[in-house]
Amino acid sequence: MSKSFLLIPVFLTLIVLRAYSTGYQFLSDVTNFEQTNNVIKIQCQNAEVRITVISDDVFRIEVSPSRTFRDDKSYSVLPVGISPSQAIVKDRLDEITIATPELTLNIKKKPCRLAFFDRAGNLLCKDHDAFGTGWSGTRVCCWKELHDESFYGLGEKTRGLNKRGNAFIMWNSDIPGYTPTQDPLYQSHPFFIGLYQGRGFGIFFDNSYRSQFNFGAGNDQFFSFGAEDGPMDYYFIFGPSLKKVLERYGQLVGTMPLPPKWSLGYQQCRWSYYPESEVIALANTFRAKQIPCDVIYLDIHYMDGYRVFTWDNHRFPAPKKMLENLRNMGFKVAVIIDPGIKVDPNYWVYQQGLEGNHFCKYPDGTIYQGQVWPGWCHFPDFSKPATREWFGQLYRGIIDDGVMGFWNDMNEPATWGGTFPDIVQFDGDGKGADHLKMHNLYGMLMARSSYEGVRQLRPNQRPFILTRAGFSGVQRYSAVWTGDNVASWEHLRLSINMCLGLGMSGVAFCGMDVGGFMEAPTPELYARWVQLGAFTPLFRTHTCIDTPDQEPWSFGDRFEEINKKYIQLRYQLLPYLYHAFYQSATQNMPIMRPLVYEFQDDPRTYWLDDQFMFGDKLLIAPIYQANQTSRKVYFPQGEWYDFWTDEKIMGPAERLVDAPLDKIPLFVKSGTVLPLQPIMQYVGQFPVDPMILQIYPSLGNNRDSLYEDDGISFDYQKGHYRITQFELLVEQKRINITIRRIVDHYTPEQRSFLLKVHAIMAKPRPAKLDGQALLEARNMEALQAEKFGWTYHAADKLLYMKFPDERQKANLEVIF
Ligand code: GLC
Repeated sequence: MSKSFLLIPVFLTLIVLRAYSTGYQFLSDVTNFEQTNNVIKIQCQNAEVRITVISDDVFRIEVSPSRTFRDDKSYSVLPVGISPSQAIVKDRLDEITIATPELTLNIKKKPCRLAFFDRAGNLLCKDHDAFGTGWSGTRVCCWKELHDESFYGLGEKTRGLNKRGNAFIMWNSDIPGYTPTQDPLYQSHPFFIGLYQGRGFGIFFDNSYRSQFNFGAGNDQFFSFGAEDGPMDYYFIFGPSLKKVLERYGQLVGTMPLPPKWSLGYQQCRWSYYPESEVIALANTFRAKQIPCDVIYLDIHYMDGYRVFTWDNHRFPAPKKMLENLRNMGFKVAVIIDPGIKVDPNYWVYQQGLEGNHFCKYPDGTIYQGQVWPGWCHFPDFSKPATREWFGQLYRGIIDDGVMGFWNDMNEPATWGGTFPDIVQFDGDGKGADHLKMHNLYGMLMARSSYEGVRQLRPNQRPFILTRAGFSGVQRYSAVWTGDNVASWEHLRLSINMCLGLGMSGVAFCGMDVGGFMEAPTPELYARWVQLGAFTPLFRTHTCIDTPDQEPWSFGDRFEEINKKYIQLRYQLLPYLYHAFYQSATQNMPIMRPLVYEFQDDPRTYWLDDQFMFGDKLLIAPIYQANQTSRKVYFPQGEWYDFWTDEKIMGPAERLVDAPLDKIPLFVKSGTVLPLQPIMQYVGQFPVDPMILQIYPSLGNNRDSLYEDDGISFDYQKGHYRITQFELLVEQKRINITIRRIVDHYTPEQRSFLLKVHAIMAKPRPAKLDGQALLEARNMEALQAEKFGWTYHAADKLLYMKFPDERQKANLEVIF
């Protein structure tokens, strides 16, 4: 055998090695760095890393092999006012450190690897030693060392709440009847939270291209985030509480502005209610049966041949009159608006779109067309400011007609057979972009155009927009629902996780099609879904074309009664729920919250996703299996009241609880002052009087508050609201309650407070209001007729106290 022959395997090995090594390049050694104020530029042999200290708790990291950085504006991140940097940069032999009072970033020099630590030196998150950040062609990826982290966020993903062990893709997709593990779906939220040794951090990967996230799927080495194109540009957000991570993420990409209060009411939808007589009959049935409802939807059949911003004149001959009649009955009508504009030379929207150069084009300048409901369509380029403005103004006509809500659908964007071809061109706010970059942003930009237009057209009224597709920041413009689910128990269960994920990604105002969209629910499934829906931020029934009726009364008397009970309960809870919306608007708090968000020190909550908190005081444990009449519930630390029986349960504990068909397991954290209102048929039907304060005593001191405003205008942003604080002091023989207005720039209509103190075992001495004994009423009925008074209901162990809400501060004392 010749020597050269022996060398063949060596050559082959080299060729194979070369093939592998043409893949990713990883960030190499640091050569030098410079600091200008809060920006630190680090030169490596093969790339530049730019670190911007956004605040003490938030660092932005950009890695660029070409040493140039993006000059396009992020559609998610709000212009952040950079506070004077407190960062201290130190150059050591083998590392550079950048430290604020909260966060330290260590940058190892050989090779360049990043590690974040808290003030006490605890590791939060570090680059994987071998990979760190890498790129291959247009692809970018960042690999972080994997420990025993839990991961949350990523928006409306399927599978579990905790993303550990799973991988996901961001590519907005229209998947009717998706499966419980399907990925990707309609929304992209490249934001996640890691929880490592009890400390939380967030990473927002500001890249709109198709991206991938791996949280230890198929490997035990790393978690990673990367995209097929676009920049490696991410924000590292310190907690350590999950609450702080989300709050800071909200400062970066914005929070939900308060929606109109009526949108928190019950909403009824189907594909489609028409003609007018059917819509009116639907409305009449709600009122006749005294089942509360605020919103009725019109799906695609209301339009003339699916042309958006038109009416079908046969089905709806006098829309303005119809909408006025419905308004007088307390209904708000929402209509669907899809992005596809029918190619029809006689259609005014099409004509305007052509004239204004508003449609997406191919690189050769021809207008792209794809098929949707109306047949061949052109699509507005929502990344062009003039087009957003134009489309927003198209709402003028239907707003004048009296339409109140706007439902943006099919905006992944979806077309028959898929989506736009990659080469379709966009304006990208003047920077130019192709579909690969704009795809995931399309839905959010459509919602933005709708929101901004409607807001201009109806000044000082909060728009209500509902969108199917979205991207990080969509909450600034719209509520979100989880698309075309299925009437199955699996989907009921799945919808909890999807909504919890949205909440942990800044999208608090979310919900699912109650009862399921595809196929038909059994009466039991529908009733269980209404029970769950009453505790989702958006509470809307919806179903597909050609499915059986899916209204609260469609399943027989027994089920109607149950469905009605929960829709009524939703209305009773509105003051409490509205306060939770306020917490979202100001602090980016989810409304439907995973237990880990409230109890992150308790590892038993890390994976818990079949029960959740609704606001910060109510624990909900939905039933998600057929014929199930009990279930296990985990109670975290503290004392809990069974909402239905007042039985007390001391956590941490796991209990089997009863759940007959008419009962969703529902618990109240002790120490809570739960504000409720009387049942009404729609929001604002009559002034809330009395404001009911259900008190669940707990030994010691507790504080709660209630936010209120006019529910409709933006005056709250000028400070026109009221916050009432409740201070509860409970001792063995005494309960003291102080009610104090701490912000008082909005005045609700005259009303009484009716306090309902639970679990009072024996009749107390006369209750005192500001030191004066209240008069005892014989019973509740007698108390109702009085302005001031108290009564004790021995059978229910309830103590009632009533007085007008007319003082800045009121103190109640009860002695036993
Ligand atoms: C899409 C929507 C669905 C709607 C239907 C007809 O499938 O997701 O909610 O009813 O289109 O407009």
